Amino acid sequence: MQIIIVGAGIAGLSLAIALSQANHSVLIVESAPRLAELGAGIQMTPQAVKYFYQWGLKEDILAQCVRVQKTFIRDHESGSAIGVLNVADLEKQYEAPYIVLHRATLHDILHKHAIRSGAKLMLNSKVTEYDFENGAIVLKNGKRMEADLVIAADGINSFARSQLLQDADPGSQPTGWAAFRMMAEVSKIKDDPQLRELGIDIPCNSNFWIAPNRSCMTYQIKDATMLNIVLSHRDTVDTSALSYEEHKAIVNDLFEDFNPILKKLLEISLPKVVNYPVYAVPPLPNWRHASGRFTLVGDAAHAMAFYLSMGVSLAVEDAVSLATVLDLALTNPCTAPKKVQLKAALSVFEEVRKRRATDVQKASLRGGNSYHIPEGKERDALHKVMSYPDEILEVSVEDLEDGVDVHDEISGAVGGMMNRKTRDWCYGYDAIGEVTAVWNSKAR
Ligand SMILES: Cc1cc2nc3c(=O)[nH]c(=O)nc-3n(C[C@H](O)[C@H](O)[C@H](O)COP(=O)(O)OP(=O)(O)OC[C@H]3O[C@@H](n4cnc5c(N)ncnc54)[C@H](O)[C@@H]3O)c2cc1C
Ligand SMILES: *[C@@H]1O[C@H](CO)[C@@H](O)[C@H](O)[C@H]1NC(C)=O
Ligand SMILES: *[C@@H]1O[C@H](CO)[C@@H](O)[C@H](O)[C@H]1NC(C)=O
Repeated sequence: MQIIIVGAGIAGLSLAIALSQANHSVLIVESAPRLAELGAGIQMTPQAVKYFYQWGLKEDILAQCVRVQKTFIRDHESGSAIGVLNVADLEKQYEAPYIVLHRATLHDILHKHAIRSGAKLMLNSKVTEYDFENGAIVLKNGKRMEADLVIAADGINSFARSQLLQDADPGSQPTGWAAFRMMAEVSKIKDDPQLRELGIDIPCNSNFWIAPNRSCMTYQIKDATMLNIVLSHRDTVDTSALSYEEHKAIVNDLFEDFNPILKKLLEISLPKVVNYPVYAVPPLPNWRHASGRFTLVGDAAHAMAFYLSMGVSLAVEDAVSLATVLDLALTNPCTAPKKVQLKAALSVFEEVRKRRATDVQKASLRGGNSYHIPEGKERDALHKVMSYPDEILEVSVEDLEDGVDVHDEISGAVGGMMNRKTRDWCYGYDAIGEVTAVWNSKAR
């Protein structure tokens, strides 16, 4: 099939690899004049890394990533560990490691493999019009292009989504959270005996200090020379016009009561702070057009809070699911025309992926909210879950806020990835198995 992918972000490139390797003819159109990703660390979860391996990216990924060994959840004041997750063990359980790497590095690897798999990329090609009925796009320069299928992976502020859904497009919405992102040089940490005490100079460990309303996550990326620092806080202040000094004053104020050594880390970090309000795309009425020739994927369809590190991973699952269901449809012995098969494939894709994305969004935000709950019995329940990350706990439901059930991996998700049930459900997901089962369950 001829397929046009709009957007060469992580979702678009992942799709290009999956679809090219399934022998589709893929063209990616990207508005930017050249490919470049903003520099920040990105965490990726095992069930998605597994598909990178299947696509033949294993060697490149392993050469460039840090495989997380342990995650320490720490009390914000004392700094002592509330719980430790042996992340290295996840590799055995879920068939691939939990990794962190530089965003730009991942983007480069995906780009290389998309081209190697046969995909074509057109830069400087902004889509300004969609003809959903006919599988066509129009570029800013007026050029019209048609394909059997158009897939929009154009990000959280998707133009395609606004065109497809018109007034029903909810746009992206604030989640109530924001994150300051900073970096520190690992050599500086190593030089300081007090900072070494934090244990953050150990390359493969990540650390997470949690407090009501605020948290600090650190992990190393890329050659273990830089420590990535993510400071979550309530999204109550507009920082868009603030200087570095003003940013820093807000950070100092917010993290005033944190462990003095951690505050020292913030002091020695590089003189750059960027505040990212966390936005999400609420569940959409639909992702595809009735013509069977268009669908949304990636952040355009389901951008979410980052508290389960699932943004990129969900895009990779999207790519695998779509390639799988297209293959099932096109090799289906039933004699219905290709158009009918394609409609059926997109319908199954949307059903499976919308459900999964909505659940992961819910669990991710729920996990983030739980890290930051006020002191009291709910926080005690959180600490209990985090203290025993390998167990499925008997936590009294009465101990938790309304409607939250720690026994429910999705609406509970207390403690996020520290919650065994949530982790198994989220990182134990089989994208190929699920879409195949749903396809097979429909009588055709
Ligand atoms: C602060 C922060 C931290 C995060 N941390 C993590 C993490 O640790 N782990 C994780 O998994 N995820 C994380 N995420 C989420 C992750 O970054 C996204 O889920 C992922 O990058 C989405 O990729 P995408 O390809 O869908 O969108 P994008 O990366 O936004 O790509 C969209 C592409 O489409 C192009 N485009 C847009 N409009 C047009 C048009 N009209 N015509 C042609 N091209 C167009 C754009 O130029 C862009 O290249 C984080 C996000 C943020 C903001
Ligand atoms: C794609 O084509 C190549 C070369 O013709 C073939 O070896 C391979 O099996 C095909 N792959 C799929 C998934 O159809
Ligand atoms: C946390 O934020 C809420 C809502 O903004 C506020 O009411 C509460 O006082 C804050 N608690 C702490 C400990 O900062």
